[in-house]
Amino acid sequence: MNIAIITGASSGIGVEFFKEMQKEALDEVWVIARRESKLKEICQSYGALPYKIIPMDITTRESMKELSSLLEEYKPDIRFLFNNAGFGIIGNLDEADYNEQGKMVELNVRALTEITTIALRYMTKGACIINTCSIASFVPNARMSVYSATKAYVMSFTKSLRYELRKRKINVTAICPGPMATEFLDVAGIDKGVSKTFDTLPYCDPKKTAKKGIKAAKRGRCVYTPRGFYKFYRVLAKILPHSWLLGASKT
Ligand SMILES: NC(=O)c1ccc[n+]([C@@H]2O[C@H](COP(=O)([O-])OP(=O)(O)OC[C@H]3O[C@@H](n4cnc5c(N)ncnc54)[C@H](OP(=O)(O)O)[C@@H]3O)[C@@H](O)[C@H]2O)c1
Repeated sequence: MNIAIITGASSGIGVEFFKEMQKEALDEVWVIARRESKLKEICQSYGALPYKIIPMDITTRESMKELSSLLEEYKPDIRFLFNNAGFGIIGNLDEADYNEQGKMVELNVRALTEITTIALRYMTKGACIINTCSIASFVPNARMSVYSATKAYVMSFTKSLRYELRKRKINVTAICPGPMATEFLDVAGIDKGVSKTFDTLPYCDPKKTAKKGIKAAKRGRCVYTPRGFYKFYRVLAKILPHSWLLGASKT
């Protein structure tokens, strides 16, 4: 049974990944998020292929056991794994809630790592792992220190894992969007006027980003960055000192 697994499929770019998967030769699409009602709504609205709704908080120990058991039971061939669930918080760390910052690391880093490790046992030649990363992985953003660090982890993990999986012909891609108008902004506390960066930067379209990101992954690319503006920023980040770029950005 050929399947795709999408974490964070209940909103934002995760919904676009789900829509794109309907065009693939898959037997089922497995969707994961905490809000079961939202997952049902999305699957009923856009699901042309059979789907499996897996409501879970992927930061919990039980969820990883549950996912492992499901995979053990069905023994699917995972053709696409989207490690997409993630969140950020804006603000200075010395004013932050330590619990929330820790949760961010658990979701963006630990859950992504654990799911990939579990899923790899069920992946074969030609499969794709697609990690939703961020432009924050190119240069860290002040007032989003932990978030940026989690995305730097995702980038580093993507680069080394794809090398490790070359022989198995499994591709790993990091999709690195700039800001997108999704629930991410509300969760992060980014209202208008809170961040000059988010107020002035060009926004990325989740639909286009998902479509082009998947195309890049299928072509075996390591990184996909939408928009010329952010492609250029990625080049700058390789040339200019990060201390300079950090100072120049008005987060
Ligand atoms: N929007 C941006 O500006 C932006 C820019 C660059 C990168 N990104 C990255 O894009 C990815 C998707 O974000 P988005 O913009 O689409 O935001 P979003 O609409 O807030 O989507 C986040 C998804 O993650 C799920 N999620 C959150 N906590 C979870 C948990 N503990 N267990 C399982 N699922 C969980 C949410 O569903 P439930 O609430 O139902 O659990 C939701 O489906 C994230 O990794 C984010 O870092 C976003």
